[in-house]
Amino acid sequence: MISKNIFIKTFGCQMNEYDSNRIYDSVSKLGFNKTKDQSNAECYILNTCHIRDKAKEKVYHEIGRIKKLYRGKKKPIMVVAGCVAQAENEEMLKREPYIDIVIGPQSYHKINSLLEKYVEEKKEEETEFDTVSKFNYFDDIKNKDSKISAYLTIQEGCDKFCHFCVVPYTRGPEYSRPFNQIIKEAEQLIKNGVKEITLLGQNVNAYSYKENSKEYRISDLINYLNQYNELSRIRYTTSHPKDMTDDLIDCYSSSKKLMPFVHLPIQSGSDKILKLMNRKHTVEDYLLIYKKLQKINPEIKFSSDFIIGYPGETEKEFNETLNLLEKINFINSFSFIFSPRPGTKAANLKTINNDLTKERLIIIQKKLFNNQIEINKSMEKSSIEVLVENKLENQNKYFGRNKFLSSVIFDADKNYIGKLIKVNIEKSNQSSLFGKVEKNMKAA
Ligand code: SAM
Ligand code: SF4
Ligand code: F3S
Repeated sequence: MISKNIFIKTFGCQMNEYDSNRIYDSVSKLGFNKTKDQSNAECYILNTCHIRDKAKEKVYHEIGRIKKLYRGKKKPIMVVAGCVAQAENEEMLKREPYIDIVIGPQSYHKINSLLEKYVEEKKEEETEFDTVSKFNYFDDIKNKDSKISAYLTIQEGCDKFCHFCVVPYTRGPEYSRPFNQIIKEAEQLIKNGVKEITLLGQNVNAYSYKENSKEYRISDLINYLNQYNELSRIRYTTSHPKDMTDDLIDCYSSSKKLMPFVHLPIQSGSDKILKLMNRKHTVEDYLLIYKKLQKINPEIKFSSDFIIGYPGETEKEFNETLNLLEKINFINSFSFIFSPRPGTKAANLKTINNDLTKERLIIIQKKLFNNQIEINKSMEKSSIEVLVENKLENQNKYFGRNKFLSSVIFDADKNYIGKLIKVNIEKSNQSSLFGKVEKNMKAA
């Protein structure tokens, strides 16, 4: 086995990050080593995202940049993976001869054989939906993730078909991994030193695995993981309001390790727009979930996703979204301008004036950012719990996150990596909190 370098550039959501790590685990069996130097790799993988904007064109642009990086050097094996690969498949090989392999997200169990075949000078395209084989394959390869906080995919795909979204087409139908397979992987991560696990899925709270007439839900996974002494924190993302069932809501009282932070995309504060989007929930449904969770634990903070300028959104509907921000003090939210995606139901709807949409985006982002600044400010001069993830390079500063996933940067002269410690917050800005470790904290 010859030692070769591989570089993976990852775009998009946490599921792509998880996939990139599993691809590394797989190709290491072929003798590939992870490199940080993208201009010196024998294999270059672009793990792409198709969710917004000119995703496809961005990939060809990226390949143009890589071509320049390797001018005068030996060309790397060029692999395009992820959701653009799934959507475009063999078209990519035809349009850009620099690409050697196109592989969709449900075919990563075939990456090693595709690379081996390529060495025999054959271009390859693989975009079958075969999620079962993918996870069975990865089950036999140890997840080497040894960061303090790691992702664990429990569910893939989506059956909801919101009219704006490509995910059901790029990730295929909903699939939930077997309960025991997930627990085995979680145990491996905990053995590797992982202290925080984020359960992942495009519709993570739709997780449903049936075995011997029992149905396992995400609540069962959370309650099971809660028992591991070495694990400090549990999170999950991304969830859909329709699947926010009472058993999951109850986990916020049964599991001490489940963090009091809920990322629950609503997309719009207008029932008319939600209906046009085919979201399958109303604003009232969302507020009810919020109220139930606040009742269980008033400390719980919410974050959300908003799409601005969806076809049909007038001033009235936009104001309804702004009204929602008066009812829920979102800690951290994402807002995007509607981007028509090829192949989706909303692709051919009449879009609204671009300047108007941009104005609306600025208004909502200002409100959301102000919320973030205020919430972070309210934590100044208090002592908060932080899970320490790493040391900043060449500084006596460490990085960690509080319960609400906010970044915390703090001074410390001992190594606290992997520990839950108390940090006195002195300053803050929109994205981070800054402080010093409390006196007399025991090091790792
Ligand atoms: N499954 C999650 C849910 O149902 O809320 C969302 C997953 S999607 C990867 C992440 C976010 O991208 C969505 O919540 C939505 O706000 C945004 N998004 C998806 N399609 C979009 C589009 N066509 N234009 C703009 N934003 C979009
Ligand atoms: Fe996309 Fe809707 Fe599925 Fe979320 S629920 S992944 S937004 S189709
Ligand atoms: Fe993007 Fe695919 Fe994730 S489209 S957001 S990488 S599921």
